Amino acid sequence: MSVELNPAPPIQRQLSAAPCDIARRTQVDARIPALVPGFDAPFFQAGLAGYSDGAMRLVARTHGAPFCITEALLDRTLLLGGKGRRKEDPDLIASEVGLGDVDDNKVASLDDHPVAGQVMGTHPDQMAAAALLLVKMGYDVVDVNLACPVKKIRCSSRGGHFLREPQQAIEVLKAVRQAVPPTIPCTVKLRRSWDDAPEMAHAFECIFDKAYEIGYAWATVHGRTVVQKYEGYAKWEVLRDLVRRRSDRLVFGSGDIWCANDIFAMLDFCGVHAVSVARGCIGNPWIFREARDMMAGHAPRKPTLSEQRQALLAHCSFAEVIHGERSAGRRMRKFGIKFSAHHPRREDVRAAFIECETMAQWRSVIERMYPVDG
Ligand SMILES: Cc1cc2nc3c(=O)[nH]c(=O)nc-3n(C[C@H](O)[C@H](O)[C@H](O)COP(=O)(O)O)c2cc1C
Repeated sequence: MSVELNPAPPIQRQLSAAPCDIARRTQVDARIPALVPGFDAPFFQAGLAGYSDGAMRLVARTHGAPFCITEALLDRTLLLGGKGRRKEDPDLIASEVGLGDVDDNKVASLDDHPVAGQVMGTHPDQMAAAALLLVKMGYDVVDVNLACPVKKIRCSSRGGHFLREPQQAIEVLKAVRQAVPPTIPCTVKLRRSWDDAPEMAHAFECIFDKAYEIGYAWATVHGRTVVQKYEGYAKWEVLRDLVRRRSDRLVFGSGDIWCANDIFAMLDFCGVHAVSVARGCIGNPWIFREARDMMAGHAPRKPTLSEQRQALLAHCSFAEVIHGERSAGRRMRKFGIKFSAHHPRREDVRAAFIECETMAQWRSVIERMYPVDG
């Protein structure tokens, strides 16, 4: 499935004020840090398959992300153990990458918490066992993925498939909630519906309502349908309507968040309690710093070349520890391409990153293109 990683032209929406003014009066809903200590701002780094690993999460945290989610982890992979599980152990990652000082970071340490482990699977029993394992591994929240639109996932009755099978979805949600100790919040990731048919909107509502009834702390709703995948725009109007009709519930929103202004636009327009930052934070951890700057009433700071260098070098080192030299060299390419967008010579940097394979090559290009005093 090809996914567009660059923003579509922005949609004009009627907001109550300019994003900087919305930001200045924005406060996190007190229920959120009460549920998840440390989740102190109304935005977070989303689950992003192939991206939101320990390396991306740690870089995001050092730039102000208060909460992060793993990519969707298959219940089977978790239960089988081995390498697949090892690289998802948040405490091991934090201890292996070290807990050094990070400049200009007032809000986060290199501790990968609070963090949600996201589980995806088919059978309630297996999902429940994998969810419990996530708790034992030290995750602070268990997030259940009922949203993934990838065909292979849907066809094996996982992820977004459940949005057209509400009874099955509810069985999974119940099994997970029962297995996870009551002190650990369970949450769910949904899309706004399977497709635009009215019966599918009804199926969504059944799952959404039941989730809260059986004790889920919040639902994150992506404003696209499963069938829509990543095409077109997310329907923020549907999120707004949902929040208005279910005003007592914590609802988080997702879809078309490309810059810090979008975070505050979604909070204002939809009334959601927190915003999931997904494609907009790939190679752009500064989106979190900008959002915090705006909440503090300051102009958002753009990253200097020296800050870009620091973030890239940190990302490289974390990736190397987590994935090993060879794999990290390849994995960094998709991040490097996105990081290069901040550089005044973006095309040259992008081209140089595309050529990189080994970590030594990565470091050499970073040294050359991002001078220390840049
Ligand atoms: C490459 C990619 C991988 C994704 N993987 C996950 C995932 O593992 N878990 C999840 O809950 N959502 C996943 N998503 C969905 C995002 O979290 C988010 O809901 C979606 O991209 C809409 O937000 P955006 O338009 O601001 O990017 C993924 C999206 C992309 C583009």
